[in-house]
Amino acid sequence: MAEKKKFYITTPIYYPSDNLHIGHAYCSTAADSMARFKKLTGYDTYFLTGTDEHGAKIERKAREKGVTPKEYVDHIVDGIKDLWKLMDIDYDDFIRTTDDRHVATVQKVFRKLYDQGDIYKSEYEGWYCTPCESFWTELQLKDGCCPDCGRPVERAKEESYFFRLSKYQDWMIQYIQDHPDFIQPSSRANEMINNFLKPGLEDLCVSRTSIKWGIPVDFDPKHTVYVWVDALTNYISALGYGTDHDELYRKYWPADVHLVGKEIVRFHTIIWPIMLHAIGEPLPKQVFGHGWLVINGKKMGKSVGNVVDPVILCNRYSSDAVRYFLMREMPFGSDGEFTLQSMLTRINADLANDLGNLVSRTVAMIEKYYDGIIPAPGKPDEVDNALWSLALSTPGRVETEVNAFQFSTALSTIWNLVGECNKYIDVTTPWILAKTEEGRERLNTVLYTLAECVRRVAVMISFVMPRTPERIFAQLGLTDGALKTWESVAQGEFAALTPGLKVCKGEALFPRLDIQKELERDAPKEEPKAEAKSEAKSEKKKHAAPEYPQEIPIDDFFKVKLQVARVTACEKVEKSKKLLKLQLSLGPDGNRQVVSGIAAYYTPEEMVGKQVVLVSNLKPAKLAGIESQGMVLCAATGDDSKLKLVTVEDGMEDGAVIS
Ligand code: MSP
Repeated sequence: MAEKKKFYITTPIYYPSDNLHIGHAYCSTAADSMARFKKLTGYDTYFLTGTDEHGAKIERKAREKGVTPKEYVDHIVDGIKDLWKLMDIDYDDFIRTTDDRHVATVQKVFRKLYDQGDIYKSEYEGWYCTPCESFWTELQLKDGCCPDCGRPVERAKEESYFFRLSKYQDWMIQYIQDHPDFIQPSSRANEMINNFLKPGLEDLCVSRTSIKWGIPVDFDPKHTVYVWVDALTNYISALGYGTDHDELYRKYWPADVHLVGKEIVRFHTIIWPIMLHAIGEPLPKQVFGHGWLVINGKKMGKSVGNVVDPVILCNRYSSDAVRYFLMREMPFGSDGEFTLQSMLTRINADLANDLGNLVSRTVAMIEKYYDGIIPAPGKPDEVDNALWSLALSTPGRVETEVNAFQFSTALSTIWNLVGECNKYIDVTTPWILAKTEEGRERLNTVLYTLAECVRRVAVMISFVMPRTPERIFAQLGLTDGALKTWESVAQGEFAALTPGLKVCKGEALFPRLDIQKELERDAPKEEPKAEAKSEAKSEKKKHAAPEYPQEIPIDDFFKVKLQVARVTACEKVEKSKKLLKLQLSLGPDGNRQVVSGIAAYYTPEEMVGKQVVLVSNLKPAKLAGIESQGMVLCAATGDDSKLKLVTVEDGMEDGAVIS
């Protein structure tokens, strides 16, 4: 058997500086969709993602929280992995730059470059942007500030190691010019050449002595390796480069594509290729720089304060719907405005109406006219033939489009088929055909054609919407794995589906949303814009800490029953980053179940055995669909950066009343 073609794709490794937003999810969804598509179309695929955990910013954040940098990142990395699980981001490996395997490779690469004279020791003086962890030359500054984030930069001077980028400048220009596919979209290649390479590359400062949270240079440990040299190396350290176990490296390197946001294309198409070239390794075949999700034209990001939480969106509208929207709404290389309204409109139009109705009408008619058994088709007429030939040509087009990262076009190609199927129902009028003997013969072909098209659509959407196809197959009564493959839609005859399967009507694939109502829900909040931000902040405070009256009568206080409760069991609430489900014992007063928003501060293991204070006469409420019978008291700072449980001194009985 011929060996499968390899495909190695990566996302950037994410900064675990906070919760990821829908902009980050955009990049991972695209990489995952591409990896799934390659798998579907017969490639031996490897998909890498991970986290970029070193640097001054993390060091500072951890200090602020009173934890070690490693403790700080561990917690966030767990949350990132949960998000990828929720969004069906099916990576093969998750590399952390704090992994020993990564640290060893970075040190090895650094030493090799030093030993061969490409890295040398000197003194650095330049402009450093701490949030971006980037050095800038005077020329690159924009109005005296960081050209990427616009924040102030500081003059930095210290003993440093330098990487001889300048030596490779001409080679790099030539390489980009000789390999037009290397940087995509190609406009970004011109940008790299004209804005960065032609003006002249300066040698790059690749170590710091002032930053402790980083990978030490093993032959001069007061230096830590510059975060970008550290981070970029992840693409090969994850494959075991330079170790005795480099099978993956030998199998998958060079990467087929590094998928990255446009602002980090320059690191991937200048520093990274020069590093690789200098150590004598091949370059990735392509770096694809995608656009940003923007809100009112501004890049979605923590610093702008306009982030949208993917967890909320997925929990409300399903991860398949969110993934579909992200891949469908904007052309992949360009920026795209994110609005909740546009997402809801797409869900209703494309998923609830077009796709959902096609599936439900098809299955309902087979149930109604054929007792649920898919009929065998008769001879197709002109109308059928037109649809059959569209169904046959669609996969080829989709393949070309996805391979060029034109996800949006590819989905629109599939939806064109969906639309034609819906039109076909209107034109063939099955309900009229069902009325006559002659019509019923024709109806066989019509309903078979629809069922087969639905099957084809289900296979084709699976790379973007991994959950929906199985729900469709279940409605078609289809279990045969061979009919769920790409080959089964990409080649051969139209009529692959076996007649005689028993369909089974299921729930609506995507229930229609009341857009107005959804927009009015508390979250996801669309961007608190700069001017609206302070308002939003005070709004948030209102929820976190209500305006207390100056005084209350003692009777009001006595309405609240507080009791000591012991946590007997605790678990995370599925699909929620914030909630823990606690089982509490009130001793003689029985047991309670409480859902509490403390998952960011306590692990379930830490909770078990603790005595907490429970508001035990609070009206039960549902949180994330789970009944919560009371509230556990906590002390929190206004900005939620710190939270501690209120407890009682040891030796108090469970159920004791606090007064
Ligand atoms: N740690 C570096 C990457 C190192 S790779 C060797 C980094 N991390 S990041 O967390 O800031 O960004 C990760 C990816 O998310 C980047 O590709 C970035 O472009 C992408 N996005 C962050 N915000 C985004 C949007 N608003 N829209 C689309 N993608 C966005 O950079």
